Amino acid sequence: MILSTREMLLKAQKEHYAVPAFNIHNMETLQVVAQTAAEMRSPLIIAATPSTVGYAGADYIVAMAQVAAQKANIPIAVHLDHFEDIEQIKRAIDVGVKSCMIDASKLPFTENINKTVATVAYAHRYDAVVEAELGKLIGIEDQVVVSSKEAVYTEPDDAVAFVAATKIDSLAVAIGTAHGLYKGVPKLDFARLQKIREKVDIPLVLHGASDVPDEMVEKAISLGICKVNIATDLKIPFSAAVKKYFVENPSANDPRKYMTPGKEAMKAVVKHKIKVCGSADRY
Ligand code: 13P
Ligand code: ZN
Ligand code: NA
Repeated sequence: MILSTREMLLKAQKEHYAVPAFNIHNMETLQVVAQTAAEMRSPLIIAATPSTVGYAGADYIVAMAQVAAQKANIPIAVHLDHFEDIEQIKRAIDVGVKSCMIDASKLPFTENINKTVATVAYAHRYDAVVEAELGKLIGIEDQVVVSSKEAVYTEPDDAVAFVAATKIDSLAVAIGTAHGLYKGVPKLDFARLQKIREKVDIPLVLHGASDVPDEMVEKAISLGICKVNIATDLKIPFSAAVKKYFVENPSANDPRKYMTPGKEAMKAVVKHKIKVCGSADRY
């Protein structure tokens, strides 16, 4: 059965570890995260962005995740990552998705609240849960230079008001991580995270965890992060291994052969990330 992320995140919060949310794109990447999580007895969040849902289909992703959950006997959730369109979220919930992120973080505070409230109203009716973001994460493609640190990072008091007004189930915080790779070592505002944790009682989410040193992710988890989002660190080794395979086998044309090294390379990273999250052997 495809679960919501509610119980798995509350358990992680209570026991001070994080559930990994791995961004998948197709059957191969979904198989890698599901099989590895099952072997390690880790709860798993299968994350799909709007473009992944556009590419693979929410119904296909749900069906594949259902097969994975039957085989695996670990809790598996399918989660909509960075959705901005409520209608798209509704359509995915209608085919069985039970967890979503409404990303209205680019909008002004009140508009973020209003859009999030509308999403929560629909999701909760179908026993689905909602993550929202306050503050703004800088993306690798983001050309906008934000000079004021305060304008981007999550304000603890705003977080309190936002959670109270929206009744969201989890909150994505902006504390210095960015989507994709960093130019140097990222600087995370742990004091800010600590303050948010003290004031807000729902599970907290760390986006942009790729390319963040393990010790920093571990520290963020120790300070209350219960869900860690990982995309880029999986995509790079998968594609690097497939490229290498084609260099070594220029006439290859069998997907079962050229996809396999990609899956193996990704699996090693997934294993490592589960260890960093501290989520192994929890079920
Ligand atoms: P990274 O690509 O930096 O891992 O970010 C992933 C993410 O936040 C997905 O929502
Ligand atoms: Zn993200
Ligand atoms: Na990152």
